[in-house]
Amino acid sequence: MILIKNIKKLVQIEEQPVSWRAGKEMQELHTLDEAYLIIKDDKIDDFGLMTALPMTEDTFAEVIDASGRMVFPSFVDSHTHLVYPASREIEYVDKIKGLSYEEIAKRGGGILNSARLTATRSEEQLYRSAMQRLQEIIRLGTGAVEIKSGYGLTPESELKMLRVIQRLKQDSPLTIKATFLGAHAIPPSYKGRQEEYVDLIIEEMLPVVAAERLADYMDVFCDQGFFTVESTDRLLNAAMKYGLRPKIHANELAKSGGIQVGVKYNALSVDHLEYTGEEEMRVLKDSETMPTVLPGAAFFLGMPYAPARQMIDYGLPLAMASDFNPGSSPSGNMQLILSMASILYRLTPEEAINATTLNTAYAMGVSDRLGSIARGKIANLFITTPMPTVEYMPYYYGHNKVETVILNGELVSL
Ligand code: NIG
Ligand code: FE
Repeated sequence: MILIKNIKKLVQIEEQPVSWRAGKEMQELHTLDEAYLIIKDDKIDDFGLMTALPMTEDTFAEVIDASGRMVFPSFVDSHTHLVYPASREIEYVDKIKGLSYEEIAKRGGGILNSARLTATRSEEQLYRSAMQRLQEIIRLGTGAVEIKSGYGLTPESELKMLRVIQRLKQDSPLTIKATFLGAHAIPPSYKGRQEEYVDLIIEEMLPVVAAERLADYMDVFCDQGFFTVESTDRLLNAAMKYGLRPKIHANELAKSGGIQVGVKYNALSVDHLEYTGEEEMRVLKDSETMPTVLPGAAFFLGMPYAPARQMIDYGLPLAMASDFNPGSSPSGNMQLILSMASILYRLTPEEAINATTLNTAYAMGVSDRLGSIARGKIANLFITTPMPTVEYMPYYYGHNKVETVILNGELVSL
């Protein structure tokens, strides 16, 4: 057993765990001052006030003194593309010069650029570079991450990516979920033949993905210039038959109908949402779909920001994830996402913490196990550097405020 003692503030505690927080409830952030936390095996066993610590210190194999420091549940990053073959900083310069995301995609850049390179990389190469990225996000406080395929776009390369993710699941202490994103872009060989590429995904990729249990979820980039609502409908319908629940890219480039088709198929989340209006919010209300905003992508691409504030004020839950990928968001730093949530989207620190822990845990299907400090949940958490207040976490942006990381109840050497 591990005891963390003298915790200045234990953040995001739950006596009765909930699966998400929506609307005004996103203001709720339960904390405990001068607290202790007990970890047994890989689980959170107990927590409480220091003055009520039930056991003597010599009962514990390890005692960590967190004086002046806070304990947070690890961030949950519910949307990334962190298995990729190479960085794409040249395109980024094109962007600075004013080319739009769609223009870059049309010139064979963007996703297609990554797909060309993925075909040339071995499983081992993709695995090693992705593992390094996982180490980096562990140091930044992430404890669970969803990873998509989608830089393959052929049966062979898509399966290769998913096998890499499967190995990462086995080898990394992070909790990982895999999402099949064969429908990320239309490969050049299928140009003008979107429906035929959709057939290829449905007939040749999905059956193998399902048979080998290579994915937990199904994604489609449903947007202007990418996959139509009709194609998305066919893809999600096929995925449903294999028991793959959708988590889709929607409304990043236009009011594409992506949110509606996602909700129709009971998507776990719809992500991006820059183009969200009253009608989309109405569809999301009373659904079981988590609206997920990706501040890194909008920031990096200089695109309009999703109306996150309005969505919360409308009563919706909201999650915020990194979208870590080489094209539109080359960072998996969830501390930065937390700061962006407050600075760019006007979420209060409490709302921003809920958006990056509990609500992202729902958005990747792990809120029963992660996303808060609750008895019985997996002990994925971090101890901060000395901090004056909780508000300091988003405020002191650009600095790593994570000092000690515990994953599955074990101290991780950073
Ligand atoms: O989530 N929007 C679609 N896909 C990724 C971008 C991937 C890329 O440019 O490589 C995203 O932003
Ligand atoms: Fe994405």
